[in-house]
Amino acid sequence: MDILVLGSGGREHAIVRKLKESPQVGQLYCAPGNAGIGKDAVCVPLSVMDKEAVLGFAKEHGVDLVFIAPEDPLAAGMADFLEENGVAAFGPNAAAAVIESSKAFSKELMKKYGIPTAGYEIFDDPNEAMDYIEGEGRYPVAVKADGLAVGKGAIIAENAEEARNALQTLMVDKAFGHSGDRVVVEEFLTGPEVTVLSFTDGETICPMVSSMDHKRVGDGDMGPNTGGMGTVSPNPFYTEEVAEICMQQIFLPTVRAMKAEGRPFRGCLYFGLMLTPEGPKVIEYNCRFGDPETQVVLPRLETDLVDILLAVRSGTLKDLEIRWKDQRSACVILASGGYPGSYAKGKVIAGLDENGQVSGATVYHAGTAEQAGQFVTNGGRVLGVTALGDSLEQALQRAYKAAEGIHFEGMIYRRDVGKRALEAERSTV
Ligand code: AMP
Ligand code: GLY
Repeated sequence: MDILVLGSGGREHAIVRKLKESPQVGQLYCAPGNAGIGKDAVCVPLSVMDKEAVLGFAKEHGVDLVFIAPEDPLAAGMADFLEENGVAAFGPNAAAAVIESSKAFSKELMKKYGIPTAGYEIFDDPNEAMDYIEGEGRYPVAVKADGLAVGKGAIIAENAEEARNALQTLMVDKAFGHSGDRVVVEEFLTGPEVTVLSFTDGETICPMVSSMDHKRVGDGDMGPNTGGMGTVSPNPFYTEEVAEICMQQIFLPTVRAMKAEGRPFRGCLYFGLMLTPEGPKVIEYNCRFGDPETQVVLPRLETDLVDILLAVRSGTLKDLEIRWKDQRSACVILASGGYPGSYAKGKVIAGLDENGQVSGATVYHAGTAEQAGQFVTNGGRVLGVTALGDSLEQALQRAYKAAEGIHFEGMIYRRDVGKRALEAERSTV
């Protein structure tokens, strides 16, 4: 099978790498990809949003499957368009992708079907939103853009002034364009966060191994939210007991709800969960693999990913056994100084070999380009240094040791990836 992966980040690099392991895969393409992905697949300079161009390329090169990794093309109906034109796609159609592309939709879905989540109200007027927040007078409060906002549309306001600023940024200044036309104002929840990615064909749901993201830019969970600064898998808070509760109260009900709404979800469904004192609650759904969760989850996958993709498409997931390595994994993101705000590009990256790798770990490229035969930075998140180990400690040690050998001007990374997970492991032993 010749496969085209759409996207250009660390997640896509991890997907490409996993597909490369499959004996069923022939030619691998990635559009647009990046310098590191280019060492594992043929990068094609196509926009992930350009439906005609993607279709044209797929037809011309006899691509058997297009793996749509990011949310934007999914929300814009890339899967619908390819399938209608006779090209197989992995990823939900636009009707199902709305579970991520509209937080208002997902909140109403959860309310209607009794799926546990934070209490909320939806507003399309910033003054009404502010009146509500002040009337409630409960801080912190979560203020979220309804639409897609590259993982940066959720603002936790500690007081009225911060709430007013959040509404100004999202709804008036339109920092994320029309995504901020409506906002969801949400009750603040506390507890450990867990990400569970899952494969679903619309009927059957197969959760993958759990992971823990580190969303804030700074150590100790300080600073603004980012797309994710590091991950570990599994997540020690996600015990078998919690997993069973999630299956019964969240995963199965969500898949059934989407089907009942006439929006069967086929693809990778992402559950961002918070384990609150009242039990697990949904913080967010995504209609795709997480980034950087994928970088720690897929390396642990033993079953041929192609078999899973085909089963999702054909609705036969219930007949497939999906196996995972009993190892731990850790990913440390090396980012450009200034991220998630503005940052410089084009900084030479030292410490990588000619394939963009280092010994002792796998380097997933998130935002790199090649200039005069050298890897240079080309994004906020630049590299994801990932390692497996027999223990979480070992995986972290390997990832950090490898990360320390890499350098570029302005490089930042969190020093405490996995710290909370390690503490949790120790306290339960
Ligand atoms: P989201 O984009 O909705 O996933 O939000 C990004 C991050 O903000 C989450 O991973 C949480 O860390 C935090 N967050 C979002 N909503 C809430 C909430 N209701 N209570 C507490 N933290 C939240
Ligand atoms: N790491 C969070 C996300 O992919 O949305």
